[in-house]
Amino acid sequence: MLDAAETVNDLQTMRDEGHLSDALLRAAVRSIEKGDDRFDWVGVYLLNEEGLWLHNYMGEPTEHARIPVGTGICGRAVQERTNLNIPDVAAEEDYLACSPDVQSELVILIRAGDEIYGQIDIDSEEKAAFTEEDEITLIAIADKLAEQLAAERREDA
Ligand code: SME
Repeated sequence: MLDAAETVNDLQTMRDEGHLSDALLRAAVRSIEKGDDRFDWVGVYLLNEEGLWLHNYMGEPTEHARIPVGTGICGRAVQERTNLNIPDVAAEEDYLACSPDVQSELVILIRAGDEIYGQIDIDSEEKAAFTEEDEITLIAIADKLAEQLAAERREDA
């Protein structure tokens, strides 16, 4: 079982040590993927002017390295500014297939206030794999990642 508090603490420790978002985003994907057998593919997409780009992932290689806002489940989450828990990807017209084995998908936005930095995307080979508890856990992790991304954005300004 993925432990939200432990993962969030580990990410905060990395911040305290001076690690930047690149390292945090990779560490988050690793601990989420290791944290639960239902999570077959775990990745982070970041958002820029052109849309979503795949920062890092664990699982089968995907051709969806870039996804425009409004395209696929991932792009829909950004367009609608909402997390998406999709119990059956086959029922979604806009679904972009990663692997034929995927049955359900969870997209959690990495956001702080009005700003969307990207998203955590998880695929499962089980139908309706994702619970409300998963959503709460993943939101806590996404919020910690957003804290670091926001801090780096402020330094650039
Ligand atoms: N299924 C996603 C595309 C990303 S892959 O799952 C890695 C979508 O429909 O946007």
